[in-house]
Amino acid sequence: MTAPALQFDVFTLFPDVFAPYLQSSILLRAQQRQLIQIQLHNIRDWTTDRHHITDDEPYGGGGGMVMKPEPIFTAVESVLGSPPTCPVILLTPQGRLFNQGVARQLVQPALEGLTAAAELPSPRLALLCGRYEGIDERVRQYLVSDEISIGDYVLTGGELAALVVIDAVSRLIPGVLGDPDGAEDDSHASGLLEYPHYTRPPEFRGYPVPEVLLSGDHARIARWRREQALLRTWQRRPDMLPNAPLSDKDRKFLAKLEAELPQEPDA
Ligand code: ADE
Repeated sequence: MTAPALQFDVFTLFPDVFAPYLQSSILLRAQQRQLIQIQLHNIRDWTTDRHHITDDEPYGGGGGMVMKPEPIFTAVESVLGSPPTCPVILLTPQGRLFNQGVARQLVQPALEGLTAAAELPSPRLALLCGRYEGIDERVRQYLVSDEISIGDYVLTGGELAALVVIDAVSRLIPGVLGDPDGAEDDSHASGLLEYPHYTRPPEFRGYPVPEVLLSGDHARIARWRREQALLRTWQRRPDMLPNAPLSDKDRKFLAKLEAELPQEPDA
């Protein structure tokens, strides 16, 4: 049995919330095929007091509770060593914003491991889920190596964010998606939003599928898809265009759009 391409170690007070998502669909298959391994660690298991307390009142007063440092340090160091040799990522709205580029960074050690000549131990990513009002600052300072936010809103804890990171990173490992090129055309992967998709029937409630897709002309279809991706990105996410890799043909198409359909100025 070969080592998985990537191992996730999730530290959480609510391991049960992960199972329904991780035990379904593509991530379940990826685990069954040993492409990824996900280990859930309940921080409460590393408490030493009779009541298994993981939080306490904030020094200086104020509302809310703060996650205590001891069980978190003990949990992470017991599993990963002291100091941990893999990234320890805290999920927090104060972290750097997660996007496709960050997902690509995080999967990189796994991709390098797949092409290494000798079999190495699996690269690991530790994900630490915060809860309550916050986490003792010493965890950030002395244990965590990276902080990630999945968006500018506040969740009740880092668990959903950890699932988002696991999902977005795992699908970049070759073989996780059925289609070997599955992740390449995705929105964001190419720096553009993805083109629209259609399947049978060719006409539904009078709404037809664009004729070009039924034509069997692969060059025309490829050009149409590229132009639709450009159009969509120009309409919905023009902020992405300056960073997208564009050909001369793409630029001409965008210039034509600008000339024909001047964009509404922001309201
Ligand atoms: N925990 C609470 N809100 C979060 C967010 N937006 N991203 C990551 N972790 C979080």
